[in-house]
Amino acid sequence: MKILILGSGGREHAFAWKIAQSNHCEELFVAPGNAGTAQIATNIALGVNDFEAIANFATEKKIDLILVGPEAPLVAGIADYFAANEQLQHIKIIGPNKQGAILEGSKDFSKNFMRKYNIPTAQSQTFTKDTLEEGLAYLATQNTPIVLKADGLAAGKGVIISETLEHAQATLKEMLVDAKFGDASARVVIEEFLQGIEMSSFVITDGNDYCLLPEAKDYKRIGEKDTGLNTGGMGAVSPVPFAKGDFMQKVEDQVIRPTIEGLKAEGIQYIGFIFFGLMNVGGNPYVIEYNARMGDPETEVVLPRVKSDLVELLIATADNKLQDYTLELDPRTAATVMLVSGGYPESYEKGKTMTGFDQAQDVILFHAGTKTNDTGETVTNGGRVIALTGFGNDIPQALDKSKAAAEQISFEGKYYRKDIGLDLLN
Ligand code: AMP
Ligand code: GLY
Repeated sequence: MKILILGSGGREHAFAWKIAQSNHCEELFVAPGNAGTAQIATNIALGVNDFEAIANFATEKKIDLILVGPEAPLVAGIADYFAANEQLQHIKIIGPNKQGAILEGSKDFSKNFMRKYNIPTAQSQTFTKDTLEEGLAYLATQNTPIVLKADGLAAGKGVIISETLEHAQATLKEMLVDAKFGDASARVVIEEFLQGIEMSSFVITDGNDYCLLPEAKDYKRIGEKDTGLNTGGMGAVSPVPFAKGDFMQKVEDQVIRPTIEGLKAEGIQYIGFIFFGLMNVGGNPYVIEYNARMGDPETEVVLPRVKSDLVELLIATADNKLQDYTLELDPRTAATVMLVSGGYPESYEKGKTMTGFDQAQDVILFHAGTKTNDTGETVTNGGRVIALTGFGNDIPQALDKSKAAAEQISFEGKYYRKDIGLDLLN
C-alpha cells in the first residue's frame, strides 16, 4: 500500500514510525512532515488544509490510504472532499467526515450529544452575544471555579477556568462581545468545574465497532507539578495505573459504547480515531472533551505499546471489519518527555542546532518541531521540539530512560519537565 500521513508533529512521526514497520507499507509519504519523518518516509511540502493539492498528489502517486493527523482538515471536511469525487473515492481516509469531526469542532454540539445519549459530562449551558445578559446572570448562580469554553476550534487555547465570578463575567464578555477567539467564541459553553484526575482514552472505529487502544495521561502545563501556562503537552505515560477493572468498564459502558451508538443513531458515519478526554471524579468517568484524532504527545506512548501491525488495523477500520479484530499490546509502561524551546508556550526562537542524537540511547525519538536546514543540520522549528519515549516495568523506570536521553540531546534554550507520570504513583 502507498500511504500518506498528514501533519508534522510528534504524533505524525509516531504514526510514520509504526506504519513504516508494516509489511503492507510499500511507500510512505508525510505532508509536510519534519526532520524525523524525513528519515523513514518522503516528506512532501503540502499544507494539511490544501485539499486540492493533496488530491492531486494522491492521484499522481496512486496513494491507497491517507491518515489525517490533526483536527483542522477533518473539521474542514477533507473526508467529504475525497468522498465527493469519483476519482478519489477509492482512497481510504482514516479520519471522520465533517459531520463526525463536529464532535471536536463544536463543544456545544458535543455537550448536546452527550446529554442526548446520557454520557456523563459536566453540567453546562451555552450562550451567544444575544444572550449575554442571561449568561452573566447564569454565572452569578454558579460556583467557582467555573469553566468557559469557546465553542469552536481555538488552537487549544479556547478553555478558560475562572476562579472568581468577576473574572468569569469579564471573560464571557471578551469571548462573546470582543470575539476573543474570533468566530470560535461566537458561542460559549459555561461548564461546571470537575475535580479529579484527567486521562485520555482512545478508540479507532469503523462506524459500527471499535477497537480500544491503550490509554494515556498527558501533562499540559509548562511547569513541574502542573503549574504555569498550558502547552500542547509536555509528556505522557501509558498505561495509567487507575485505568483498569471497574473504572475502565465504566469508561466502555458509559462513555465509549454510547458514543459509538449515538453517532450511529444520528446517522453520522464515523471512520477514524476518537479521543475521549476524561476526568476521573471519585472513580467515575466524565467526558471533558472529544477529539476527532489521536492526541499529541499521547500517540508517542500509545503506538509504542501496540504490537499489532498498525496498517492491518487501519485497513480493517476503513473496510468496516473491526468486529473480528484483536489488538496485541506490550504490557510494559511507556513514558515520553517532550523537549521544548526556551520561552514556549510564549514566544521562542527557532533554528537552534540540535546535537546528541546518537547518544540518546534506549529511547524512541519522535521529532515534532524540527527540520533539516540548508547545510544538512537538524534544527529546531517549533515550540515542542522532540519527544523521547522510554520503556520500563513501571513509570519511574520508563521515565528515567526518557530523562537520560533528554540530557543527551542539546540545543540552546532546551527545557523539559522531569516529573511526567510521577503524580500517578502513591
Ligand atoms: P481542552 O482545551 O478542552 O483540552 O481543555 C483544557 C483543559 O481544561 C483540560 O485539559 C482540563 O484540564 C481543563 N478542563 C476542561 N473542562 C474542565 C472541567 N469541566 N472541569 C475541570 N477542568 C476542566
Ligand atoms: N495532548 C492533548 C491533545 O492532543 O489534544
